[in-house]
Parts: sequence; structure tokens; C-alpha cells
Amino acid sequence: MPKLTFLVNGQTHDVPAGTRFLDFCEQNNAPHEFGCTVGSCGTCCLTIERGAENVDPASADEQETVAMCTDVAGARLGCQLVIRGDIAIRPVER
Ligand code: FES
Repeated sequence: MPKLTFLVNGQTHDVPAGTRFLDFCEQNNAPHEFGCTVGSCGTCCLTIERGAENVDPASADEQETVAMCTDVAGARLGCQLVIRGDIAIRPVER
């Protein structure tokens, strides 16, 4: 089962492959902030410090929102992530 690690607190959780990061966070009171939850506000912006290949690629819409929010290379929107394998994430400072 994929492991999801929150680098802000070092906690790691086992999550079924195919779990939406947003759903996991909402159901587990996880330490990550969301706003719109639909990919348009950028509140959930994060970096995947390990396992970036273990989520689906960013859509054009996601890339557009990320570009408006940060210039951090490889940043992603938490509300758009589907977990396919081990990942370790950290929120982008805003
Ligand atoms: S919560 Fe708004 S873009 Fe993810």
C-alpha cells in the first residue's frame, strides 16, 4: 500500500492506491490547507519531495493555477493529486 508522508510533521500514513490526497486529508484531519478544492485558488500548493512520479501528471488547468501561485519548480495542487505510490509532500510557502 502506498505511503503518504507529511514532511511538516514527519507522519507517514498507508493509503490505498488511487486515493485522492484531498479526500485523505479531509477524512484524517491532515496538516494541509485547502481552499476551493477544485484547482483554482492555489491554497493547497505543495511540492512532492519524494515520489513525484507516483501521482498523475498535472493537467493544463493545474499547471496554469500553479504558475499563478508560485515559481517553485514542480509544484503541484494537493486538491488535484491522486496517490499511486509512495510520496512525501511539503506545502509551498506563500
Ligand atoms: S484547494 Fe484551491 S487549488 Fe487546491
